[in-house]
Formats: sequence, structure tokens, C-alpha cells
Amino acid sequence: AKVDPLKIMISGAPASGKGTQCELIKNKYGLVHIAAGDLLRAEIASGSENGKQAKEYMEKGQLVPDEITVMMVKDRLSQPDSQEKGWLLDGYPRSLSQATGLKAYGFEPDLFILLEVSEDILVERVVGRRLDPVTGKIYHLKYFPPETEEIAARLTQRFDDTEEKVKLRLHTHNQNVETVLSLYEDITIKVKGNAPKEDVFVQIDSALTKLLEQKKSALGSL
Ligand code: AP5
Repeated sequence: AKVDPLKIMISGAPASGKGTQCELIKNKYGLVHIAAGDLLRAEIASGSENGKQAKEYMEKGQLVPDEITVMMVKDRLSQPDSQEKGWLLDGYPRSLSQATGLKAYGFEPDLFILLEVSEDILVERVVGRRLDPVTGKIYHLKYFPPETEEIAARLTQRFDDTEEKVKLRLHTHNQNVETVLSLYEDITIKVKGNAPKEDVFVQIDSALTKLLEQKKSALGSL
């Protein structure tokens, strides 16, 4: 028999490093990275009615309504790649109703990771963040500058990455985080996110290794 693939949720304030850690986790564990924010930005880019509505909320740093987010995430989790390789859900759930909405479809995580980063650091991370539209890679002007001039010339910035907007996003996060945490208390690990990304990953990596071992031994004892 095969070990059940990992099912992981990762949460944290805006710019706490969720996307950055997901890239490292994906590279090592082969999970499918599903970021609620990326799915919403893809909706906006497609010009759909849902995308138009979502943008109004995202510009205010507020949660996009469940009518849009729950089905969008559920559909992506249901695809064969997520089912076969396991999934890494980034930025979802952000409310009680989002968590129960997903649970109703049978999606529950093995582990809930919370990245903890001080507020002064978050603002600096947001304003320095740049994205490579070709590779999807996340850079930072100070911490992870682009490798070449060519990449530097094509980097873009997100429409909600200003100091003013990150404060609104942070406010929304702070309002909701405790409720979501209380739902996953017994499977939560809190990770110290102020450190360099490699050091943050060491903490996550050891939790994931342990989890995989537990799954293997549970299978062995059947
Ligand atoms: P979303 O796209 O999820 O944004 P967010 O939660 O604000 O998080 P970010 O993507 O900004 O940050 P991150 O934690 O991934 O950090 P990153 O790794 O890039 O959501 C956007 C909006 O969509 C929301 O405001 C909401 O409106 C809507 N939305 C999303 N999900 C929703 C949901 N479930 N329901 C309803 N609405 C929803 O890192 C940031 C920067 O820091 C980068 O430049 C990076 O290089 C740098 N960095 C990372 N780690 C380190 C480190 N250890 N040291 C130094 N620099 C680092």
C-alpha cells in the first residue's frame, strides 16, 4: 500500500513568507501548491465577472466573498494532481465559513502551519517584493535580488503591495487569525518567520519529515 499524500495548510500575515516557503516545500516534497491569492489574480487576469468582483475586495484588503473563494479552492483541490501528489494550500481558509465550507467537501489537512513575523518586518517585505511574470518566482529588492539584468528589467509589482494596502490586509488578517487557529489547534505548528528563508524552512522541513514518518508507521502497523 502507498502512503497517503500530505495535505498541508499554510497561513500567516501578508508577506510573512507563505509563497516563499511553499516554493521550498514544493521542491522537496512534490506537493501541489494552491494559493488562494494566485487563483484570484488568475480570475482577474481572465476578465471574468468573478475576477471583477474579487478585485474590488482585494483593493480594499478585505476577504473576497465565500461565493467566489470556496468553489474556486474546492475545484482546484479536486483535480487529479492534487489528489495524487498531495496539496499545500496557501492563504485559505481565512474564516470559519471557509474552513467549514471546505470540510463539507471532505477536505481536511494533516498539518496547519502558521508563520509568525513581526509587523515592522512585514511592511519592509511587502514594499520590496517583486515578481517575475515569466517564472512566477518571488524576489525581494534587498533580500533576494534578481540574478540577472534581464530578469530585473521584467519584474512586476502587485497592485496591493503598498504600505497603505498592506496595513489594511494586516488588519483583516488579525481579525480572523484566532478563529481559524482555534479550528486546527491540535494540528498547528507555529513557525518563527523573522529569520532568513532557509532557517524558516528548517523548522517546516522537520515537521513535514516527522509527519511523513508517522504516516508510514501508521501504514506499517495496519
Ligand atoms: P494573498 O495573495 O494570499 O496575499 P497575502 O496573504 O497578503 O500574502 P502575500 O502573498 O502578500 O505574502 P506571502 O506570505 O506569500 O509572502 P512572500 O513569500 O511573497 O492575498 C491577496 C488578497 O486576496 C487578500 O488581501 C484578499 O483580498 C484576497 N484573498 C486571498 N485569499 C483569500 C481567501 N482565502 N478568502 C478571501 N479572500 C482572499 O514574501 C513576501 C516578500 O518577503 C517577498 O519579497 C519575499 O522575497 C520576502 N521574504 C519572504 N521570506 C523572507 C525571509 N525569511 N527573509 C527575508 N525576506 C523574505
